[in-house]
Amino acid sequence: MSKESILVIGANGQIGSVLTGALRKEFGENNVLATDIRADNGHDGQFELLNVMDAKAIASAVERHSITQVYHLAAILSAKGEQNPLQTWDINMGGLFNVFEVAREKNVAKIFYPSSIAVFGADIPRQLTPQDAVLKPTTVYGMSKSAGELWSQYYHLKYGMDVRSLRYPGVVGWQSDPGGGTTDYAVDIYHYAVRGEHYNCFLDENTVLPMIYMDDAIRATLELMEADTSRINERTSYNLAGMSFSPTEIAASIQSVKPSFEISYSPDFRQKIAESWPESIDDSVAGSDWGWKPAYDLEKMTADMLFHLTAKYQSA
Ligand code: SER
Repeated sequence: MSKESILVIGANGQIGSVLTGALRKEFGENNVLATDIRADNGHDGQFELLNVMDAKAIASAVERHSITQVYHLAAILSAKGEQNPLQTWDINMGGLFNVFEVAREKNVAKIFYPSSIAVFGADIPRQLTPQDAVLKPTTVYGMSKSAGELWSQYYHLKYGMDVRSLRYPGVVGWQSDPGGGTTDYAVDIYHYAVRGEHYNCFLDENTVLPMIYMDDAIRATLELMEADTSRINERTSYNLAGMSFSPTEIAASIQSVKPSFEISYSPDFRQKIAESWPESIDDSVAGSDWGWKPAYDLEKMTADMLFHLTAKYQSA
């Protein structure tokens, strides 16, 4: 097997910080370079400051470390993106073009580009939204991801670049904090529950959204990237599912372990974003192409989240 040298861009983010550790375990401590626009958040291995808008700096990192794979995770998410739409477009698309162009020039073998359930909007079946549903996103984040999916396919078709992508649902994990997303409530709620505090949810009680536990999201990413090229038939992005639930349902699953937990609801502008997205995802194409199967449901996730967060707060 040839030796991989991996660059993670956005390594301090919610997914990046966990994925970096998983990649280091798989490919070796010294073969994964973590980079982010923010200072090191305590990564054990190599870390460099890197702004994805600086193409020269990306090229320099790729050259200096003889990079063979890039995981490009830097982006502005759905809720934060609405505060400054044009800047969000510039960063999400500009960052993507910088990564793709450097990868093309330097012959990087594989690229991972995360997409999102935010690519969906009006005129979809909201239950079990299929792989090939029409994409009419209404957030600038969703628009950038849906354009990015097409550019991934374009670089593959035109230049033979091996770009692979997943449409992540809301990702829930205890290891890191999300930032600026509409699905972030599903992480916050566990922190409030473990601290014994009342949680006021920014989505309405019956708003069902697709979510995935961090362990499943990381495993899906590694499995997709390790799959034989012949199994990757979808070059825009794969639908990915874990579970689906509403705020009431996640609260009930917490209350079954912590009966004193209380929740109230004050929906804000994020409610409208959530209502434009699917309630559940049909990920059968990922299943048949490269064998994807989630392991966590709501009950299993709640048990794991409460266990790890309790230990985290106790040791803090
Ligand atoms: N979790 C993301 C968000 O809420 C969706 O990709 O913006």
